[in-house]
Amino acid sequence: MATASKQYVGPGHLSQEQKPSATVSAEVAFDNVHVLSQTPQLIALLSMIRNKDTERADFIFYSNRIIRLLVEEGLNHLPVIEHDITTPVGRTYNGLMFQGKICGVSIMRAGEAMEQGLRDCCRSVRIGKILIQRDEDTAQPKLFYDKLPEDIAERWVLLLDPMFATGGSAIMAVEVLKARGVPEDRILFLNLIASPEGVGNFATRFPRLKVVTAFIDEGLDEKNYIVPGLGDFGDRFYTI
Ligand code: URA
Repeated sequence: MATASKQYVGPGHLSQEQKPSATVSAEVAFDNVHVLSQTPQLIALLSMIRNKDTERADFIFYSNRIIRLLVEEGLNHLPVIEHDITTPVGRTYNGLMFQGKICGVSIMRAGEAMEQGLRDCCRSVRIGKILIQRDEDTAQPKLFYDKLPEDIAERWVLLLDPMFATGGSAIMAVEVLKARGVPEDRILFLNLIASPEGVGNFATRFPRLKVVTAFIDEGLDEKNYIVPGLGDFGDRFYTI
């Protein structure tokens, strides 16, 4: 017979101390790392994609919901200028308008899963691609391919990769962007799940670059998978 689960209502559904440790994002001491607000919605969405029994269609659907939250939060870190408008009832509203050009850059293949979420928020946004894979001889990340907008140095870059494990690929991707003239403080790295190791490596190396993540997990296993994690994101999104 199934046992009834306890029901909770509202954002403060449990105090931090009462929550199981795996449902509390790890604390990090870096100002440039922004973790999404840990709402019951977000934890429920993460529970769907972390569950090994979640089928591909649901994995895609719930990942896309989190990606949308990440993109919306990422856009909050871009510059705006004051922009007054008049409403249909003749009143002035002291609003804001985004200023500047942006582009997305996905780290293939898993980062491509985040492109649609960016397009849903930023119509006809330009998207570049970077392919980095492990070199079998050296076991180090190696750049295989990049295709980036010509004027990328004038743009804010939203770098996309869902799983931020050791940070090896992301560090190489940032080096590629910097070599193309993109200043570090105009790069935002968006990911669904980060490891404390990856975040630490990155934040000390690129202190002016911002990371926006949905959750910081406990750590990495011996194969550098994030734990508790969700397994291989690319396989679950594209093939399994
Ligand atoms: N990439 C993944 O897809 N999952 C991990 O846990 C780490 C890297």
